[in-house]
Formats: sequence, C-alpha cells, structure tokens
Amino acid sequence: MVDIDEQFCAVRARSEALCVDLSAEDCNLQAMPETSPLKWHLAHTAWFFETFLLQPFQVDYAPENPAYAVLFNSYYNGIGAQYPREQRSLLSRPGMDEVLAYRHQVDAAVLELLACTAEEEMLERLELGLHHEAQHQELMLTDLKYNLFQNPLFPVYSAVPPAAPQGPAAALHFIDHPGGTVEIGHAGQGFAFDNEGPRHPQIIPPFRVANRLVTNGEFLEFVEDGGYANPAFWLADGWHEAQAQQLRHPLYWGRIDGAWFEYTLMGLRELDLAVPVAHVSLYEASAYAAWAGKRLPTEVEWETAAAAHAVTGNFVDAEALHPRAAPAGEEQFFGDCWEWTNSAYLPYPGFHAAAGAVSEYNGKFMGSQFVLRGGSCFSAEFHIRATYRNFFYAPDRWQCTGIRLADAQ
Ligand SMILES: [Fe+2]
Repeated sequence: MVDIDEQFCAVRARSEALCVDLSAEDCNLQAMPETSPLKWHLAHTAWFFETFLLQPFQVDYAPENPAYAVLFNSYYNGIGAQYPREQRSLLSRPGMDEVLAYRHQVDAAVLELLACTAEEEMLERLELGLHHEAQHQELMLTDLKYNLFQNPLFPVYSAVPPAAPQGPAAALHFIDHPGGTVEIGHAGQGFAFDNEGPRHPQIIPPFRVANRLVTNGEFLEFVEDGGYANPAFWLADGWHEAQAQQLRHPLYWGRIDGAWFEYTLMGLRELDLAVPVAHVSLYEASAYAAWAGKRLPTEVEWETAAAAHAVTGNFVDAEALHPRAAPAGEEQFFGDCWEWTNSAYLPYPGFHAAAGAVSEYNGKFMGSQFVLRGGSCFSAEFHIRATYRNFFYAPDRWQCTGIRLADAQ
C-alpha cells in the first residue's frame, strides 16, 4: 500500500513536472476563458489544500498570502470573492518562482499536518485534494493544447516520437445488453465525488453499445459526406452553433495541400484514420450518431456496459498524450477519450452535496451540462472509475472528447 505522504508528494510533484519544459510565457497563456494559464492551475491547487485542508484542520494556520484567497479561488462563493476567470492571464505577478515557492510552503504545511494527525475526516479531505489536483493536471494539458494551438508555429510540447500510423481499427460491431432493472452509482467503498451517489436502481430497455470509439476515418466520412452542411443531423442548438462558429471539422483538424492533419501535443501530425476522433462537442457527436443511424448512449447504459470492464486503458500514465486505436479485443471504455452521453448532468435520486463550502465542488453545476464517462489519455488512471461523472457544456470541444455509438436492440 502506498504511503499517504508519498502519494501526496508524487501527485504534487507531477503538476510541477508538467511545466518543466515550458517557458514562463507558455505558462501564462489563456486563449479563452475556459483555458486557464498553467501557472494559475499550479497556484489554485495549492490554494485548494490551504483552504479546504490546512485552514479547517491545522490549528492556527495562517494563509501564506491573504491576497491569494481572491486570486486563486475558482468558483467558491462560500469562501469569498474571486478574481475574474477570463482575466487570469493578466496575473503576471506572482511569477512562476513565487507560485512554486507558495506550493512548496503549502506542501510542507500539509506534511506537517499529516505527521500530527490521522483523523479520518482530514484524510478524506486530503484525498479529495489529490483528486482535485488530478483533475487540474488533466486541465493543464488540455488547456495548454488549446492555448498553444493558437500559434501558427504549432508548438511541440512533448517529444514523444510519433507513433507509426496504427493499423486498421477493429471492425465496428454492437454488443447486446438485456436492460431491465440495473444499478448505477458509487456504492460507498473507496473514493468517489459526491455527484456519483447514491447508488440506485434504474429500469432501462434492452440496448446495444459499440465495441469501440468512433475513429477519425469514420468521422472523416461524415465530414466528406457534407455532414456539417446538413441540418437534418443536428440538434437545433448544435446547428446554430455550427453556423455561428462556421464549424467544418473537429477542433484540431486542418487541411494542408489536400491532406488532413491534426494538432497534437507532439505538434502537427497527419491524421491517423485508425485512432478515435477527439475534441468534438456534444453537438458534433450527436450529429455524427444521427448520420450513422445510431445515437449516443445514456449514462445509465454506459455505466451498465462499462462496469464489467477493468479500469485500464490509454491514460496519461502511458505518456502517449493522444488517443490510440483500440487494441484487438479491448472495448476502450476507459482512457483515450471522454465519451459523451446524451444524459443531462443532474443529481441522482437522493443526492446530497458534501457539507460546507466544498459542497460547491459539483452540485451547483447540475443543470445545463452533459455527462461524459470513462476518462481520456490526459486523465490519471488512479483518478478514474466506472461511476465517475464528468460534465461539460454541449458546445465544449477543448477537452479530449470522443464518441461511442449506441442503439436500441
Ligand atoms: Fe479546482
């Protein structure tokens, strides 16, 4: 069993390691309100431990710098005011050195706390902080990808050598599930966010889900068939968005001299037709499914189908930083791409938000977003479960989001 101090140090160190090969300018980019500067992520995750672990559990703890309570509070109204999200790149001060020093002071204080007490509530909050940091590590990579993409030099972040184009994807087929009364949600053992519970029954008709994610090659057929120009496939809001943004293909695709390319954290690469299509919105996923004569799975269907599989796959631990073609016999429920479901992000029956200011973590977003499942190539393996409910707005494309088809039997 990994020692909690060791796990804390490893998770914290990884956030800093993500920035080692970046310049201070790279770390302060913010191309849209949703993509925070990496320096802000580093500071915010330290603030989270200060605010939700050290202040409640360390007697007489004094914050390192009281001004940080505003600068690095993301959205916790119960804690206080927040610096405007869309202006985070204006925070040239504190600089990277100061932010790293802040992190290290917080780290030392947390380790001191751990040396003094093993109170259960404190350890649960520490675990929440570690999963919070893992969420931000994923955002650091996806935000950076979007921010660097604005530069016509198509900057290379990772020197991972390009994988050889992967062989043809496994033939697409659909796996039958009997439906009936199924149970979803977290059962209470091990870590889970409050939005994953309580576990509860649902009655669903028989359904089928695809054996893998939709590939670039399959999505290219939709593009070349005029899928982006035919309103018959699109939700009304999706069609409006596609027209307003003049969408013609997934976020990081582009055409050069007649050939398709895709921007990755390893730079610009020729589009690999065998790997899953990534960085599509719910609207694009839904339009593709309609064009293919299928639909997206509900989150109940997804969890029912995925729960039988081990949580293994192409996670950030493999350092590929890009989806890969499904290995033969693997159904790709975990890793590679977050999978859009057509389920609105709503509370489960009997949901209760965590107590205190941390109640704002998940519950207050239950209303206008959609659920995604399974984690991506930017997620840490320790952080993902079959019950994990991620959520984004329907037009969002900068996360590593992909498509699994479903159908009625
Ligand atoms: Fe956060």
